[in-house]
Amino acid sequence: MTTEKPPFYITTPIYYVNGTPHIGHVYTSVACDVMARFKRLDGYDVKFLTGTDEHGLKVKQSADKQGVSPQKFVDDVSQTFEDVLTLMNISHDDFIRTTQERHIKSAQHFWTQLEKEGMIYAGNYSGWYSVRDEAYYTESELTTCPDNKEIKIAPTGATCEWVEEESYFFKLSAYGDKLLDFYEKNPDFIQPNSIKNEIISFVKRGLKDLSISRTSFDWGIPVPNHEQHIMYVWIDALTNYITALGYPDKDTSDFQKFWPANVHMVGKEITRFHCIFWPAFLMAADLPLPHTVFAHGWWTVEGEKMSKSLGNVIHPKDLVDRYGVDQSRYFLLKAIPFGNDGNFSHDQAITRINADLANGLGNLVQRTLSMVYKNCETVIPERVNLTPEDAALLEQSHSTIHTIRPLFDQFQYHRALEEIWRLVSAANTYVDEQAPWALKKTDFERMKVVLAVLVEVIRCLGLLTQPFMPDSASKILDQLKIPADQREFKHLTQEYAIGQGTCIDLPEGIFPRIMEEEKTA
Ligand code: MSP
Repeated sequence: MTTEKPPFYITTPIYYVNGTPHIGHVYTSVACDVMARFKRLDGYDVKFLTGTDEHGLKVKQSADKQGVSPQKFVDDVSQTFEDVLTLMNISHDDFIRTTQERHIKSAQHFWTQLEKEGMIYAGNYSGWYSVRDEAYYTESELTTCPDNKEIKIAPTGATCEWVEEESYFFKLSAYGDKLLDFYEKNPDFIQPNSIKNEIISFVKRGLKDLSISRTSFDWGIPVPNHEQHIMYVWIDALTNYITALGYPDKDTSDFQKFWPANVHMVGKEITRFHCIFWPAFLMAADLPLPHTVFAHGWWTVEGEKMSKSLGNVIHPKDLVDRYGVDQSRYFLLKAIPFGNDGNFSHDQAITRINADLANGLGNLVQRTLSMVYKNCETVIPERVNLTPEDAALLEQSHSTIHTIRPLFDQFQYHRALEEIWRLVSAANTYVDEQAPWALKKTDFERMKVVLAVLVEVIRCLGLLTQPFMPDSASKILDQLKIPADQREFKHLTQEYAIGQGTCIDLPEGIFPRIMEEEKTA
């Protein structure tokens, strides 16, 4: 009997192509990738979507600055975002671009639905707009620049300009109570709680209708039947999450299976769009709402926002060249509790990678497998006559998955890593206490049992670290000759424990130590 796998749909924001990708973008993609891989290994049918947001004034201005057509510009920059996904070993199932035909058709249909429901009307917009945020602000949200009182500043620090133009509006003001009611009935919809509280108080202050079309430039999706208007970039962009499932066709197997999404992962600066506009649009179009929008924090560098003008942007390639792909993935998720802001520092990265990966996990694998290779004629010995210490460590290896599963459900990546590393420490303590190198001379049979227990712990660590460090985990599992079809979380049991008699190859170091002098390089 085959039982159908439960679906799990996770998305990153689609990234603006006005600049090249940096570690902030990679952070979200890695977090989603780790979740997608975790769920696949845990028996889910996963769809993982990412892509690029290619319309709007900000992108248009960047293209103009380079003197190339917007299409040529977005083609080039979008490719750099795809390349960085390959670099970071991201396992997305689809890469959507908002300039694709499938998306234009979907966004136009979505608009038509909102119009049919009577939720769109024509008017004139006059007010403040920030090109950097691609967002409208009310006067009361703005401050003035200390050096020039004429310049208005958004809460994000972006400058705003005064806009007056013909525009279509979405009746957002009709959704305040409906949204508050939805948040109350679906307490997991906005996470973490700090963001939920901000959104609730924003909605309680009252929502104004939203300008959803522009007429002063043309780099966007034409509004159906009113082609002098283009869609506001956010209504265009948010629709990507359903385009990728086949919308406007709601009968596709993907739409049926994966909508509503389980998680829209976003940075905290774009929660207003995902937690207010998007659910209101979906309610208006009579579509189900996603389960969760999770907003994570921001990386700064030496306490400053990353920016080209400050010259402090950390490029993913530099990180990978210095530390390796898996080490970078590990560091990004271990360094700060997911949801909080964090400051990037190379010193901290080196210390963490050396302590946790080179010394912690790497050393455990290397010293255990070298001893098996040298002293047991390359053959994994039998686990017999187990002591309570052996049994306790094996039990911890098989049960760690039960501890980390709920942590994944709460997006607590750093705590899941802490639990896995609790097992690494327990194993390293066990090695020190059992001292197999001493047993080699005093009790060879017991040495073999100790090594056999450790090999099973390493198998479990290999399985558990796969979502975070897919290549390194594969290397560990390959060294142990674990078959490809026995690498899921359901195999973290005694029943699938590594068989005695398996021959291993000469172990190779997995996590090289990062030299101190590189700290100042
Ligand atoms: N195009 C919109 C999103 C549309 S989704 C329908 C957008 N794009 S963006 O290029 O500005 O990317 C924003 C996302 O990149 C953030 O929400 C966050 O996920 C990630 N990050 C960009 N810089 C970041 C940091 N410095 N730190 C952490 N993540 C940040 O907004």
